[in-house]
Amino acid sequence: MISKDLQLAEKLLREGNVVAIPTETVYGLAANALDIKAVAKIFEVKNRPTFDPLIVHTDSIEKVSQFVEYIPEKALLLAQTFWAGSLTLLLPKRNIIPDLVTSGLSRVAIRIPKHTLTLHLLEQLDFPLAAPSANPFGYISPTTAKHVEAQLGDKIPLILDGGACEVGIESTIVGFEEGKTIIYRLGGISVDAIEKIVGSVEIRPHSSSNPNAPGMLESHYAPRKPFFLGNKNILLEKYLPEEIGVLSFFEFQEELPLENQKVLSPNKDFLEAAQNLFSFMRELDQMPIKVILAEELPEESLGKAINDRLRRAATK
Ligand code: TXA
Ligand code: MG
Repeated sequence: MISKDLQLAEKLLREGNVVAIPTETVYGLAANALDIKAVAKIFEVKNRPTFDPLIVHTDSIEKVSQFVEYIPEKALLLAQTFWAGSLTLLLPKRNIIPDLVTSGLSRVAIRIPKHTLTLHLLEQLDFPLAAPSANPFGYISPTTAKHVEAQLGDKIPLILDGGACEVGIESTIVGFEEGKTIIYRLGGISVDAIEKIVGSVEIRPHSSSNPNAPGMLESHYAPRKPFFLGNKNILLEKYLPEEIGVLSFFEFQEELPLENQKVLSPNKDFLEAAQNLFSFMRELDQMPIKVILAEELPEESLGKAINDRLRRAATK
């Protein structure tokens, strides 16, 4: 059920149920992070392997201190600058956070989301919420309540409706190793913005070189239809023009039917492109076409995080 009923969401969560919640990045599939049975339901509903850890959501830095051993200086600077917002910090966990939440890792991923409804909810609750994106494992993340309903509607009692997500791509995940600041997932806060606060960072996004984040699998965010990056000429050798759908940055592709094309931002605005990304990928996935052709964005600002999603969605 889709509803704006905050009290109902609160009640269901207190009783150990899973509820979909809006955030500014994508919708999350939330449950009491301190209740192992509730957390187990998240993995079950999402069909997610338990080696892929969850982000813990809360509403104040004071509360974060209850869940972690300490907050390194640079982490605190980032938290003060970007929270509430699309930043997730990996911090040394206290025992109160169940191992199931972190997949046995010693750090817990924490973030304060920037969404009025969900912040109200978190203020009311005396426990934090573990929440991955509210999509079946591996599929495109949801940015509206309807997206969640389409895939998980029959498995969860409530989808709290907070409108369309303003940022549209997931949070940037940042941690610290031997004094270095490391970005494990590109996301809603750009690399440049983070470097302005803490100096240079290392970007280490892939699972192969990244045992600390087993869940950041290479194939992810993927539509069901074959999804290709690059040049239309290669696809035109195998497909008719009307069989090809297109996701492009700012302009339509010539020689292909306009009705099967989605343009992320005619004004080349990265924020708008991020906002539209997952919705448009879903729409294309539902069109009567056989393949999707996507265009990479310039590697700047949020273009980097958008390209990361496109590459992981691409058919290997
Ligand atoms: O914007 C977001 O971050 C959204 C909203 C709902 O907050 N959440 C989200 O969650 O994208 P999810 O589960 O789809 O992606 C979280 C990523 C996973 O790739 C996971 O491996 C990584 O965060 N992660 C979580 N806890 C971790 C930990 N303790 N150490 C390393 N990586 C972790
Ligand atoms: Mg996800």
